[in-house]
Amino acid sequence: MVEFALPKNSRVQKGKTFKAENPKGKIKVLKVYRWNPDDGQNPRIDNFEIDTASCGPMLLDALLKIKNEIDTSLTFRRSCREGICGSCSMNINGTNTLACTTALDELPDSINVYPLPHMDVIKDLVPDLTHFYAQYQSTQPWIKTQSAAPDRERLQSPDERKELDGLYECILCASCSTSCPSYWWNSDKYLGPAALLQSYRWLADSRDEATADRLDDLEDSFKLYRCHTILNCTRTCPKGLNPGKAISEIKLMLAERKAP
Ligand code: SF4
Ligand code: FES
Repeated sequence: MVEFALPKNSRVQKGKTFKAENPKGKIKVLKVYRWNPDDGQNPRIDNFEIDTASCGPMLLDALLKIKNEIDTSLTFRRSCREGICGSCSMNINGTNTLACTTALDELPDSINVYPLPHMDVIKDLVPDLTHFYAQYQSTQPWIKTQSAAPDRERLQSPDERKELDGLYECILCASCSTSCPSYWWNSDKYLGPAALLQSYRWLADSRDEATADRLDDLEDSFKLYRCHTILNCTRTCPKGLNPGKAISEIKLMLAERKAP
């Protein structure tokens, strides 16, 4: 029988509320998804009142304040705190983005903080990205050549190098893939916008000599063509990249090589 409700052990419950003591500034309430695989409890939402007068400016600063001063068990990924490592991606008020580049004062007073959607959760705000990385690896994201290695670098003209703009900046944060309905339903077979943008990064590289093999591998009704140009990926990318366009470019390359 079709089940329309979440299984009982998946239903999100009310959690604890942590009040700010003697606040000196504006209060922001972070409603944070919590789940611990070791305690046998359902997921819950904990409310943390954050005094912005004693907190850094970004949402990541608020999460660090919670971890350092209120609840050390809160679990999330972060590293660079400046939008270049891709670790702190999460769902903030319904948008997949980076906690370290999201300013608290641009958010409403009540902020929902969830892990990236439609992924297995390891703990709290940490999704399991094992499959996402395996898909990235499957695209063979490195230069492949057959010609003899030159004495020095394989050179590119400025125009050839320009073709990589908008591609090389991807930080593999997974915000795009986890915002894509096609990826939600078919991530076992559909590569998703992040892996496809990375794939196109090598197709667009004038130094790479494996274009035909790369296209052969992508010519598949699921791996590539499950993209139905919904474009959530492009709307959500915190680096301002356009995975939807990269996917269209791959489709165009495939169409052009078929043309008589
Ligand atoms: S394309 Fe943008 S959203 Fe997607 S993984 Fe790369 S940086 Fe993240
Ligand atoms: S901590 Fe590196 S991107 Fe946010």
